[in-house]
Amino acid sequence: MKILRSVADMKAFAHERRTAGAKIGLVPTMGCLHEGHLSLVRECRANADVTVVSVFVNPTQFGPKEDLQSYPKDLRRDVEMLQREGVDVVFTPPEDEMYPPGYRTFVEVHGLQDRLCGPSRPGHFRGVCTIVLKLFNIVRPDIAFFGWKDAQQLIILRKMARDLDLDVRVEGLPLVRDVDGLALSSRNSYLSAEERRAALVLSKGLREAEAMAGAGEKSAKAVIAKVIETIGKEPLARIDYVEIVSMDDFAPLERIGGEALVALGVFIGKTRLIDNIRITGRG
Ligand code: PAJ
Repeated sequence: MKILRSVADMKAFAHERRTAGAKIGLVPTMGCLHEGHLSLVRECRANADVTVVSVFVNPTQFGPKEDLQSYPKDLRRDVEMLQREGVDVVFTPPEDEMYPPGYRTFVEVHGLQDRLCGPSRPGHFRGVCTIVLKLFNIVRPDIAFFGWKDAQQLIILRKMARDLDLDVRVEGLPLVRDVDGLALSSRNSYLSAEERRAALVLSKGLREAEAMAGAGEKSAKAVIAKVIETIGKEPLARIDYVEIVSMDDFAPLERIGGEALVALGVFIGKTRLIDNIRITGRG
């Protein structure tokens, strides 16, 4: 497994393999890897000839009061895990390789970036789109893998790829949960034992939403009220948002008919967690 740190080396490697006819797959990550990330890596290995995993904690997607400084890092462990998975290249550039002094260019997907997580994380999706477009340009993957854990991110990146005519297939893979239901996240490492237990209200609320929709409840308001009630019972939890939205533009739905996304952002203590579930209303 190669570990590449410069844009030039990454471009040269990808170019060489591409001209030899290899199909290149990319899995962008911020490291501190867990089974959610590894599910993407395995799918990439199964679908591409060359698997590139980027590990880069992208500063432009963190707000000034967010956790950029404390974001968990353990490159040695990440590299070991990726080696075991049979990854071909780990691309882990230093910050000034991606954002040299004087860097000025950013990409935004208007509208979609302002919904759900948007209001509480201004500039977040602009940073995500910018770094992912840069990675796409450096690696020029045929296929790139993202998780439904970050549903809004996935849908925004798909839109970016379509709007900018990028030659990459953006694949979305299922959200991976711990056995007790908690969505795996690098940020779970911030949680104390008590907070970890409290965080189960997120998936509990979503399971209730799924059950209500499955039983024929059509009113988004009623389902949201139930989720808010469940999460509200947990003293360590503070709701940022609970929404039921359309899958393509995140417009809030009144009636649950076809496919919908139930998405939530909840603070557990100081840690902000997100989770979501896709539901299909009955008619
Ligand atoms: P990060 O949070 O490290 O996640 C990297 C990829 O792993 C994302 O596509 C994310 O959706 C996926 N992922 C995380 N937890 C998952 C889970 N429990 N189940 C399935 N997939 C999961 O998302 C980012 O990094 C960054 O924004 C990035 C796209 C790398 C741009 O900096």
